Amino acid sequence: MTMTVARQRKVSHPFFARIYPKINAVAEAHGAIEHRQELLVEVSGLVVEIGAGAGSNFRHYPPEVDRVIAVEPEPRLRAQAESAATGASVPVEVRAGRAEELPVADGSADAVVASLVLCTIADVPKALAEAARVLRAGGRLFFYEHIRSADPRFARKQRIVNVVWPLLGGGCNLTRDSEQAIKDAGFTIEHARHFDFVIKGRTAPSAPCVIGVARKATSDVA
Ligand SMILES: C[S@@+](CC[C@H](N)C(=O)[O-])C[C@H]1O[C@@H](n2cnc3c(N)ncnc32)[C@H](O)[C@@H]1O
Repeated sequence: MTMTVARQRKVSHPFFARIYPKINAVAEAHGAIEHRQELLVEVSGLVVEIGAGAGSNFRHYPPEVDRVIAVEPEPRLRAQAESAATGASVPVEVRAGRAEELPVADGSADAVVASLVLCTIADVPKALAEAARVLRAGGRLFFYEHIRSADPRFARKQRIVNVVWPLLGGGCNLTRDSEQAIKDAGFTIEHARHFDFVIKGRTAPSAPCVIGVARKATSDVA
């Protein structure tokens, strides 16, 4: 039991950590940079970024951001994030940790950023409860996620491909309705843009995406 819990807590994906920068470079060459900029355009104050990966968002934070605490559990990706922090547009501190147990004080953040990460986190409700905990009342969650398709036929394909996808993608899942999970965690969606991220004319199983903003309830009850 203790060993199982320990295994779940450790996030180690050496293969994914090696290939993700290459996958991300292709995505960024075909629109993901613009998606990151769209995600971050309204962010301000003290920001907590969960599962920051190689730090691909760091150079896109606007000047209204005072400081970013970037939490990343995978040691190789965290090292890449530390290197990216040196070229960031705002001060960035990279911390080890998981979204389910954020190393951040209660009510201290103006914004939490989740980009391409709710697909991978082991316990999404717990991670979103943690996002709500670290946000001040009325703080906002900014999200950019690939999601389960609203088209039942495409969603079925996603379910089939998802048998192997997490093994290759560092635990990434194609079948999550992350926007609904955000609502279920007590956030109010302020806006959300849904689109298919088509690269070179190809609609990959991860194409259905959403970029949006959700607000934490103003009372302490999330
Ligand atoms: C597809 S990558 C996205 C990285 C980055 N957010 C981006 O936009 O490029 C998914 C990230 O989630 C991280 N991750 C996996 N499990 C996690 C957890 N429990 N808590 C926080 N991050 C996690 C992985 O280590 C990886 O960095």
